[in-house]
Amino acid sequence: MSAAFTTTASEPTIVDPYSVPIERLDVSDPRLALDQTWKRYFERMREEAPVHYLKDSKFGPFWSVTRYDDVVAVEDQPQIYSSSWEHGGITILDMQDLGVQLRMFIAMDDPEHAEQRKTVSPALLPGEIKKMAEPMRVRTAEVLDALPVGVPFDWVEHVSVELTTRMLSILLDFPWDERHKLPYWSDWAANIDIGTDPVLNAERERIMHEMAGYFLKLFGERKAAPPKGDLISVMAHSEAMSNLDYQRFLGNIALLVVGGNDTTRNSMSGLVYQINTFPEEWAKLKANSALAANAAVEVVRLQTPIAHMRRTALADTELGGQKIRKGDKVVIWYNAANRDEAVFPDGDRFDVNRENARRHLSFGYGIHRCLGARLAELQLATLIEEMLKRGMEVKYASPPERLSSCFLNAYGRMMVTMTRSV
Ligand code: HEM
Repeated sequence: MSAAFTTTASEPTIVDPYSVPIERLDVSDPRLALDQTWKRYFERMREEAPVHYLKDSKFGPFWSVTRYDDVVAVEDQPQIYSSSWEHGGITILDMQDLGVQLRMFIAMDDPEHAEQRKTVSPALLPGEIKKMAEPMRVRTAEVLDALPVGVPFDWVEHVSVELTTRMLSILLDFPWDERHKLPYWSDWAANIDIGTDPVLNAERERIMHEMAGYFLKLFGERKAAPPKGDLISVMAHSEAMSNLDYQRFLGNIALLVVGGNDTTRNSMSGLVYQINTFPEEWAKLKANSALAANAAVEVVRLQTPIAHMRRTALADTELGGQKIRKGDKVVIWYNAANRDEAVFPDGDRFDVNRENARRHLSFGYGIHRCLGARLAELQLATLIEEMLKRGMEVKYASPPERLSSCFLNAYGRMMVTMTRSV
C-alpha cells in the first residue's frame, strides 16, 4: 500500500464507516466480519457510492458493487465481466498471485465453462436430488438424535459440519470413513484471507496437492469401473472432464468440495443465529412447518455464505454512472445486495413469510448460478423440518464466534444448549 493513501483497513481498530471520507472505506478488511460491521459499511456505500472505487488496498485497487440491480447487471454481462482465472479469477485475491491456481469452471468463461458445467449439471438436476431426499432425511435424523440434551455443545462441529460432510460424501461417493478429510481440505482451499503470505501459501499448496492426489486415485478407480451417478464417476466418464490437465483437475475438485461445504455448513449455523435473534419467527415455524422451505431460503439470503464474487472488466464500460476501465477488478458483494432495501424491505430481518426471499443473490445469478442450490435448500429445509418434529429449542450457551474473512460469512464455533419435547 502506498504511504500517501490509507484505507480504513489500515487503522488499528475498526472505524465507524460514517466518520471517514467515503473513498477510504475498505470493505475487504476481514475484521469487519467478526461482528458484522460490514453491514454499516455497505449501508453507507449503497446509499452514497453504490459503485465505489478504492484506489489502494491489500488486494490492489478494486470497485465494489453493492446494489442489487448493479450486481445483477454485472453477472448478466459475462462477455464484459470475466470470471476467468487468466485475468485473476473470482475472488478479490488475484489468482495469479498464488502457487496453486484453481482452474475450476466457476473461474472460466464460456465456451470452456459451459462445457464443464454441462458435464456436472445432470448429477444435480431436480430428479437426481429427489433421489437423495430420503437418505438425507435419515442422516439428518441420526445426527439430531445423537445430540446431547441440556448440555452445551458446538452446533458448528456436531451439526453443520457433520451434516454437510455426509451430504457431500454421498454426492461424490467419497469413502465414508475418511469423509472428515473433506472439510479440512475445503477450509484450506477457501482461505483466501491468508493473502500472499508465502508460508501459509506453501502450506495451502501442500494440502491442495494432497487433496488432488487422493482424488486422482478415486478418479482412476471410477474411470476403470462402469459409470455410476456420483459426481466423480460422472466426470471420469465424460468427454469434457475425463482428461483435464492437473491444474484444471485440482481446481474442479476444489470447486465441488468448497462449493458444497463451507456454504451449506454456514447456512446451517446461520439458521441457529436467526432463530436466536428472532425467536418469534421460530414460533411461527413451530405453528406451521409448511413454512420450512421458505425459511430455508430466507436463511440463505441472510447468511450469504459467499460474501463476494469478483470479475475483471474485459473492455471499458459504464456501471451505475461510473466509468469502469478494461482490466479493472470489480467485486460484487452479495451480502450487500441481499440487504438492499429497494428489493428486501427491512432487509436485516429474518422473516419466514418473506414473499420474495427466493430473489436473493446468495447463489449468484446468470451463467454461473450455483449448481448445488436445490441440494443445499433441500438439506436446510430437511434440517428445519426434523428439528420441528422433535420440538427442538436451540439456544446460545455463549455468543457465536465468527471467522474473520471478506470472502466467507462463516462461524468457527457456536456453543448451544438444546431441549426437545419429542
Ligand atoms: C447454501 C449453499 C450454497 C451457496 C450459498 C452457494 C453459492 C454459490 C455461488 C455464489 C456461486 C457462484 C455464482 C455466480 O458466480 O454467479 C456458486 C457456484 C457453484 N456452486 Fe454453489 N453454493 C452452495 C452450495 C453448493 C453445493 C451443495 C454444491 C454442490 C457440490 C455447489 C456447487 C457449485 C458449483 C459447481 C458452482 C459453479 C457454477 C458455475 O460456475 O457454472 N454449491 N455457488
